[in-house]
Amino acid sequence: MKLYTKTLLAAILGTALHVNAIAQTADGAAPVAVAKDQPIAQAGNFAPTPPMGWNTWNTFQTNIDEPLLKGMVDAYVSSGMRDAGYKYFVLDDGWMTMERDKNGDLVADPKKFPNGMKAFADYVHTKGLKFGIYNCAGNKTCAGYPGSRGHEYQDARLYASFGVDFLKYDWCNTDSLNAREAYITMSQALKASGRAITFSLCEWGNHQPWLWAKGVGELYRTTGDITASFDKDKHFNSWTALSVMSILDKQPAIAKYNGPNHWNDPDMLEVGNGMSFNEDKAHFSLWCMLAAPLAAGNDLRKMSAQTQGILTNKDAIAIDQDALGIAATRIYQVDSLEVWAKPLANNEVAVCFLNRSASVKQITYNWQQQAIENEPNNIHIDFAKASFKLHDIWANKDLGTTKKEFKQTLTGHSVIVVRLVKQ
Ligand code: GLA
Repeated sequence: MKLYTKTLLAAILGTALHVNAIAQTADGAAPVAVAKDQPIAQAGNFAPTPPMGWNTWNTFQTNIDEPLLKGMVDAYVSSGMRDAGYKYFVLDDGWMTMERDKNGDLVADPKKFPNGMKAFADYVHTKGLKFGIYNCAGNKTCAGYPGSRGHEYQDARLYASFGVDFLKYDWCNTDSLNAREAYITMSQALKASGRAITFSLCEWGNHQPWLWAKGVGELYRTTGDITASFDKDKHFNSWTALSVMSILDKQPAIAKYNGPNHWNDPDMLEVGNGMSFNEDKAHFSLWCMLAAPLAAGNDLRKMSAQTQGILTNKDAIAIDQDALGIAATRIYQVDSLEVWAKPLANNEVAVCFLNRSASVKQITYNWQQQAIENEPNNIHIDFAKASFKLHDIWANKDLGTTKKEFKQTLTGHSVIVVRLVKQ
């Protein structure tokens, strides 16, 4: 018989028995060890496809309050984001006061949320959306608010009482905490809370969560923060500062760990936050190719028709949300031209041609130079043997078949994404 801890048994049986046994102590004493091969409570499996939502951080940082966010919830719906498949509305850092109350509970900042967090969560729910919140495994969050260390079960119960459906759990001020153990503690606390809460691990890939986060939470950051910074000439440089491109480059090595209910998370989207139209389209396309969680981070009340068109493009979202959940890998790279391929259900394939340079490039791609393989899903596509029709998802037009060389012009920092359907 397998040996289960009391905590684990409690979580499995859905009781609150001894649930604090594994929680870390407030004075920072070491948590109960979790052996490498020790079974852990299964994650909730709340994310069979990559979670889609909106998060406050990229545009507003800690400058959030109820009137602003109610307006954002309304815009979420009126802009068509909800109907396009986005589901979560997530408050990032900065929603609480700097101190816990006398009972040790976190407190929603009364200046920002005068009606309390439950009332705001209710508002989100009445719009058919799910509500997410943020905290951190350390003593303080990255912006200096109280962290959950030593209060995991208490905080999880509070979130459940608010009506939280999603927790983003950060990694600042964690000193020598063991990442896997700290995230398992919170994962078990969420389960013991009795509410279905999707768990988003945010330790930036420092401790290779792709090796252990499956079963702990549904998604885990793979990399540091995406940036939306300006260069000295006031040109937006999310692309050229290597933010988007350098995050992308770290993904092929871990693509094989991605899958339903355990998603590699290359961070939230900067679409609509200042990059050019082509750059935004490329960034969004590549995140969809990676089967990444899609967390928009722009001001939904003010987005342009172009931004709205990118974020709600049905064909791009269908690639992201494909049932197989396979992350694309780079199958061709010559200078600044790259080809990324993502096997899809029903023997279809998404292929993204990327020009990462700033200048116009011609691409001539011979399909037969690279087969597409995915052993775990038993996928082997040899273009010498099978022919596919190409549909350009952004131009919404057919582009011939894989029998012919693919010859196209790509402007700087742009992509062409085609869906391949067997003919
Ligand atoms: C970290 C995270 C970000 C954001 C901030 C909030 O940097 O990686 O995504 O949550 O903290 O302080």
